[in-house]
Amino acid sequence: MKILSLGSLNIDFVYSVGHINLEGETISARERECKPGGKGLNQAVALAQAGASVFMAGCVGPDGSKLIETLQLSGVDTTLVHKIDEPCGHAIIQLSDSGANSIIIYGGANMQITPQIIDRTMDFFDADDYILLQNEISCVDYAIRIAKERGLKVAFNPSPISDELTTYPLELVDIFILNELEGYTLSGCNSTADSDIIDALASKFPQSTIVLTLGERGALYHDSQSNLSCSAFKVPVVDTTGAGDTFCGYFLAFTMKGVAPKKALEIATKASALAIGKKGAAVSIPSLTQVESVTLT
Ligand code: RIB
Repeated sequence: MKILSLGSLNIDFVYSVGHINLEGETISARERECKPGGKGLNQAVALAQAGASVFMAGCVGPDGSKLIETLQLSGVDTTLVHKIDEPCGHAIIQLSDSGANSIIIYGGANMQITPQIIDRTMDFFDADDYILLQNEISCVDYAIRIAKERGLKVAFNPSPISDELTTYPLELVDIFILNELEGYTLSGCNSTADSDIIDALASKFPQSTIVLTLGERGALYHDSQSNLSCSAFKVPVVDTTGAGDTFCGYFLAFTMKGVAPKKALEIATKASALAIGKKGAAVSIPSLTQVESVTLT
């Protein structure tokens, strides 16, 4: 069984700042670093680190060689990544001293994914393989529909939230992995309590498994048979960028291995805690050996 991450590949420009810029304010960054990122790429790397057989599909420009190299070094198959003339997507990330971030993304090549590319990509997959989608590329709605038609299991991380998101065929999604803000918006819930959000999502998408990540408060899980929760580990925060992507990749990789949801939640929570302790998105994703050898409380 294999998994396709059809998603964004970004060049992350990370600016280290004392605090996140306020409206109307000009601040100086201490340092600027250039790192591989994009939710599609990060989640593909996390899946591979967790031991899944992963294919990445998407589009990069002439400036994308480092992104491809990052994927390959992690063991991701990149034969389905298209090289086009449009420059790569990028992210401008402010990283504050407290480890908080603020991100602007520019789609670039990520927005050149067409139904034709998706059709051709799907030919490499069989019923019962998985697809993992995020919301940083063009034609996400088409990809959900076609993947489901071909019998793939559809996992969706609806990030970042956009106006179009509610027009997608979300009733076809098998597994949602999303944070509280995404859950609140997608559920249409008028309460911000975690339990209300997950209940509202469960009644809106009764056919779906829902994994709601809560940052330092851990994660909640719902499917037709169980409701579970998992506490977060207490770790010093260096950089939270990519922690959600690490969680997604690890959770799905272990789900695909047939591991029980409780255990998959625990390992994903631990992997994302380790990612928070290191700067960068893709480069902060720990290997399975690291995850298994470290003890956290
Ligand atoms: O989730 C983190 C990612 O969001 C970054 O790598 C950035 O590229 C944006 O896509």
